[in-house]
Amino acid sequence: MKWMEKELEALAEASLERSLREHSIVSESPGYTLREGRVLLNLSSNNYLGLADHPAIIEAMREALLTEGVGSGASRLVTGNRLPYGRLEESLAEWQNCEAGLVIANGYMANSGVIGALVSRGDVVFSDQLNHASIVDGVVLSRSEHARYRHNDMEHLRTLLNKYRDNRRKLIVTDAVFSMDGNQARLHELVALKREYGAMLMVDEAHSGGIYGRHGEGLCHELGLKDAVDIHMGTFSKSFGVYGAYICGSRTLIRWLLNKARPLIYSTALPPSLVAGISKALELVKADHWRRERLSEASRLFRSSLCNAGFNIGDGDSPIVPLIVGDNDTALRFSSALEKEGIAAVAIRPPTVPEGTARIRFSLSATHSDRELIDAADCISTIGLQMGVLRP
Ligand SMILES: Cc1ncc(COP(=O)(O)O)c(C=O)c1O
Repeated sequence: MKWMEKELEALAEASLERSLREHSIVSESPGYTLREGRVLLNLSSNNYLGLADHPAIIEAMREALLTEGVGSGASRLVTGNRLPYGRLEESLAEWQNCEAGLVIANGYMANSGVIGALVSRGDVVFSDQLNHASIVDGVVLSRSEHARYRHNDMEHLRTLLNKYRDNRRKLIVTDAVFSMDGNQARLHELVALKREYGAMLMVDEAHSGGIYGRHGEGLCHELGLKDAVDIHMGTFSKSFGVYGAYICGSRTLIRWLLNKARPLIYSTALPPSLVAGISKALELVKADHWRRERLSEASRLFRSSLCNAGFNIGDGDSPIVPLIVGDNDTALRFSSALEKEGIAAVAIRPPTVPEGTARIRFSLSATHSDRELIDAADCISTIGLQMGVLRP
């Protein structure tokens, strides 16, 4: 095991080692986190709509715990398919206006398992270079060809579609909102290309579910592209504030996945109480339009404050705001300086983002107030100037 110590030292020297910090919620203050005894403004959470400690969700989970017990005891295809599942999947299909929905343990397993169920050796997956790691791993596990196109570069995608024209099945897969950059995929163009080349299209709405669409259905719905997308994937771990993931699409798709998606077949079903909590969260996501509106206002305000200060934060409109500093050590020092000022905002480094694009990834919540965001942006600008990330 000596090699491991050496490799870890090399990681630490390159400012690439990761380690855990302990966090607790701050009751009555969902926009904050208690990290090792200090209350910090939390600008690094995916709890976009502020539902992670919602009393109605807690109550739904408590009730289900008392009636259904702690664990589901088996995978869904054995005896783990407990009552709350059916209810949730019906509401999911209705919400997404699709024929059927399927709950999977988490977003990582949904992406890695579903891709493996759709394609295999001899097939090809066209995947944006900035897609989430769970998509990349899904393609690798599937043993199909991995055709990665440059980020949002539709000409490059077309070149690859021509190159792999003769492969058996073709799947185009993309994040709807890119997790580390906060910008959107070019979904209209992806739909046109999928039609032209006879490919399937899968869209990961992890960072757009709950946020876009009239009832939070996601970006595909917002853009009127729902029916053009074959596989809708989303998570319950971000806007929903809970845990878990879903796939929505045709009845045939869901029937296929029940038979072929390995993470569903070979893993214990989520605890029934969690599934009941997700159902309650879905009701809130659909009904609480004010959360989406507040989040959108907060994103506009924070983005414009950083732009006016002179930062380059890309072209997104989502609550994910990347502040690219380039080098790993600068990103770590920037994050520490923010922590000293009472802000939790983590440094994101390779391999999560491409080499030379280390960044602070800010993510906002509907629970942040204007005052908190303006003060945070001032603090970020001051540190940016002190560290030479921002030129006076
Ligand atoms: C785009 C994207 N897809 C999938 C996932 C995985 O979801 P989960 O956290 O539910 O496993 C994430 C989570 O970070 C993500 O950002």
